[in-house]
Amino acid sequence: MIPLIIDCDPGIDDALALLLAAGSVEFELLAVTTVAGNRPVETTTANARRILDLAGREDVPVHAGCARPLGAAAPRCNLVHGEDGLCGARLPPTRAAAPGHAADLITATLMQSPPNTVTLVAVGPLTNLALAEIKTPGVLRRARSLVIMGGAAFCPGNITPAAEFNFHADPLAAHTVLAAGADVKLFGLDVTSKAAMSAEWIESLGALRTRCGTAAAAMLTAYAQADPLLHDACPVAWLLDPTLFAGQQCSVSVDWRAGPTEGQTLAWQEERMDKPFPPNARVFVDLRTDRVLELVRQRIARLP
Ligand code: RIB
Ligand code: CA
Repeated sequence: MIPLIIDCDPGIDDALALLLAAGSVEFELLAVTTVAGNRPVETTTANARRILDLAGREDVPVHAGCARPLGAAAPRCNLVHGEDGLCGARLPPTRAAAPGHAADLITATLMQSPPNTVTLVAVGPLTNLALAEIKTPGVLRRARSLVIMGGAAFCPGNITPAAEFNFHADPLAAHTVLAAGADVKLFGLDVTSKAAMSAEWIESLGALRTRCGTAAAAMLTAYAQADPLLHDACPVAWLLDPTLFAGQQCSVSVDWRAGPTEGQTLAWQEERMDKPFPPNARVFVDLRTDRVLELVRQRIARLP
């Protein structure tokens, strides 16, 4: 069993990451934490609860987190996932969020568990993880790994030419987390831009004739019009089968300064790097798209 916390900003690809995790017995899903990102934190928190309850996982607590980035007065949201963050999926409202801030839940879980046991998957802006590290320096190093969807190490961004959405939404948080000395596995646009969904694959989810398959197919059909890439499922799929991905150790940092390069990922590959910049992240650059999509479909097929 892999003890796991997923920090997210649902968002439709976040929803698929949650469904993949909920349908996989390999995980002990300790909690889901939410952050402002695709939509305001009230919306992402309600969506996380809706998705978990759709999957029959009312047992997984959802803790709301930061409502805005570290260095800005308001979140940088988007409408790629629709006003409601789920492209109008109209899932029923559900239970309340669990008491306690996301950053404090992450800290308490890491402090109360033996070092190197709990894995953090982060697929939204990294504000909650950064706040945890600022409040309790060194806490992120207690995680087994930080498995992050974010950044664009060797390719253009998707929200500006230089930056990917999650790192651009809170560049100071991304800088803080990457500088924390934790074991980082980074799934940026370098690899997620290859996680392209086909219309046939989306239809195969609807063909499951389950409530989760039907909801996933409806959400993805709308989402794919704007962004046919399954970004956030990649970190969870890697945890299930690392052989489906390829990457290399790099020294990675994030430009947190305002301006045209704000949120840009700066990466030096280990073999081309002089010593002052020790490698601090495994940067993934390729995947077996067909196998990843089949893994996602199989695990969603296990859900109600
Ligand atoms: O750039 C893709 C990332 O931004 C994904 O996590 C998506 O959900 C959005 O948050
Ligand atoms: Ca996300």
